[in-house]
Amino acid sequence: MDVKESIQKRRSVRAYKDRDVSDSLINELIEAARLAPSGNNIQPWKFFVVKNTETKKKLKTNKAFYNDFVYEASVIIICCADPNEYVKKKGRDSGNEMRAVRDLSLAAAFLVLRATELGLGTCFVGWIDQEKIKEVLNIPGHYIVPYVIPVGYPDGEPRYKETKGRDEIILQNQNI
Ligand SMILES: Cc1cc2nc3c(=O)[nH]c(=O)nc-3n(C[C@H](O)[C@H](O)[C@H](O)COP(=O)(O)O)c2cc1C
Repeated sequence: MDVKESIQKRRSVRAYKDRDVSDSLINELIEAARLAPSGNNIQPWKFFVVKNTETKKKLKTNKAFYNDFVYEASVIIICCADPNEYVKKKGRDSGNEMRAVRDLSLAAAFLVLRATELGLGTCFVGWIDQEKIKEVLNIPGHYIVPYVIPVGYPDGEPRYKETKGRDEIILQNQNI
């Protein structure tokens, strides 16, 4: 599968087969994220990989995620960004939350595209309680957790989605 096909095939998958995703595949996903671009090459991303049933149960008990399908995935990747990296490495004292989320999201996009290529289903899930997640997983308080990504083998077809046409997303159309 090439990048074009992966982009076309990727969909939000919210139902997963009862089948484990291997560690070597998880490593492939993290590797795709690791190679992403970032402003000033800061690479502010951190990923907490949840596989353990007990940990999933703890997250569920604490209502860390509001979508129940998240707990059903073989793996849940907690996507974090450390805004302090820009202070430490570049002395920037404002705008770091935006930078951190921006850079993390590029890495996360690489991750989900690689997952698609590997036959895995993913979904960005932002309907979460980031403070609860940090508390349960002992993630540093200043990290930002904008979303998590459940990963599993897709069960069924994704729902229909509408997409905007080119005319709706291109601001200047004269030369195209
Ligand atoms: C940042 C972000 C947060 C999202 N949060 C949720 C969520 O909390 N729950 C959910 O079911 N889907 C969530 N989605 C998935 C979107 O609903 C989905 O991407 C959109 O409907 C387009 O469908 P597609 O991903 O299949 O192309 C989120 C997507 C993004 C990019």
